Amino acid sequence: MGEPTWTREKLQRLVQREISDYQLIVVSNRQPYVHELVEGKLSYSSTAGGLTTAIDPLMQECGGTWVAYGGGKGDYYAVDENNRIQVPPDDPSYTLRLVWLTEQEEQGYYAGFSNEGLWPLCHNAFIEPTFKTSDWETYKAVNNVFAKQVLDEIDGRPAAVFTQDYHLALLPRLLRDADPDIITGQFWHIPWPTYEIFRICPWGGELLDGLLGNDLLGFHIGDHCDNFMEAASRVLGSQVHDEYNLVYQREEPTLVRPFPISVDFEQINLESQSPEVTEEIDRLLEELDLGGKIVGLGIDRIDYTKGIPHRIRAIGRFFEKNPEQIGKVVFVQAGVMSRANIHAYQLLSDQIDLELAAVNGRFSNDNWQPILYLPDDLPAVTLAALRRIARFCVVSSLHDGMNLVAKEYVASRFDEDGVLILSPFTGSAHELIDSVIVNPYATEAFADAILEAVEMPYEERRERMIRMRSVVEENNIYLWAARLFVDMMQGARRSRRPIRSY
Ligand code: F6P
Repeated sequence: MGEPTWTREKLQRLVQREISDYQLIVVSNRQPYVHELVEGKLSYSSTAGGLTTAIDPLMQECGGTWVAYGGGKGDYYAVDENNRIQVPPDDPSYTLRLVWLTEQEEQGYYAGFSNEGLWPLCHNAFIEPTFKTSDWETYKAVNNVFAKQVLDEIDGRPAAVFTQDYHLALLPRLLRDADPDIITGQFWHIPWPTYEIFRICPWGGELLDGLLGNDLLGFHIGDHCDNFMEAASRVLGSQVHDEYNLVYQREEPTLVRPFPISVDFEQINLESQSPEVTEEIDRLLEELDLGGKIVGLGIDRIDYTKGIPHRIRAIGRFFEKNPEQIGKVVFVQAGVMSRANIHAYQLLSDQIDLELAAVNGRFSNDNWQPILYLPDDLPAVTLAALRRIARFCVVSSLHDGMNLVAKEYVASRFDEDGVLILSPFTGSAHELIDSVIVNPYATEAFADAILEAVEMPYEERRERMIRMRSVVEENNIYLWAARLFVDMMQGARRSRRPIRSY
């Protein structure tokens, strides 16, 4: 494998050069570390999902402040009088500043407008978005709460604010209105829908105008940028210069570009070789009785965009078509419960239980069960061990901005073995072309893809894995951040506003 072009150290030098005397502030809804209080004792854990996977290693390298909603029961006790705490708690390298929201605010802004409105709007999973005026009002109010906290943190000093995701679409405009010198960049971690779909949002114009308060706006892939630019032009009448990826709103430019997000390849690669992971492999082989079996793996937040019922059905069809595989192949599905107070997620959880019962009920025997479902928040070492045990990993999203589980699987296979079965509706499929790509809706083809993975000869698995590993190693999270930071600072230079010298 070739040397990665971008390393932690190189990014750190770039940040020092490009961002220099600007304070770097990351803003997101979800915090990277959450504190719990159990019987008077504080403990912390890292939060699940692509956001923390991608941004935490960057902050550890670059320093700065991460502003996020403090949703953990112990958070209030962990912070100082300015609501700040140094993280990671075991080896602090940056500041986390927590924002407090009331239950009603969290409900309307996070569960309501963000996850019952924007999430289904942006993902083609055929779940109808719910747009409640009260949720929208709360979303606006909470974006204002975040703006106040960020401005307080900036305290009039030069700052570059890097906002994350769909919870904070109005923040950049609020920051720019308050202080036009603030450099603003945002990464949208989910897909952006086509104009035909986007236009059903009753407040689409305000969302677009909020996002166009950014100097730079990033999406995972070019299609999402094109969709966004079309919406800006058709909904707001913004001037779009496709050839330069520039959108002019209120006579100020926003650079709109694809930045395929990634993982810390080196770290995952190294961690998966640790003695703790090897010990955990032995434990799992014994405890789950996986020795001598071909293991398939799914790791997901339990979300209707991930195509989990489709995957279970395909596994059932695989055993139906290939009865000689009964007893030889086991599929381990690890899941993290997510957004459990939202009705669509409760329905999904029930549906998964039913689909599992159908497949396990039909094919299990006294010594073997086809699908082992581990719906717990498993420790990182267990997930790393499962990735190493798995002959194949399945990512069957119905729609996904990127999907970092796919890249984590590839990064962890230092032994250059393993097959990735991947949905074409993920951003990752644009890069991981050596995976077995299959439409999750096509149950027959999906079942055949599982057989292909099970029977794929070692040499072919190795060749494909080597190629996928060099893609992830090269396009790692540090390259993603480097491109983003350079474009964010240059986007600011391009705008009419004078930029402080750096
Ligand atoms: O994939 C989009 C995303 O917002 C990620 O950025 C995040 O890691 C994930 O969803 C988890 O969502 P939540 O914070 O609602 O659990």
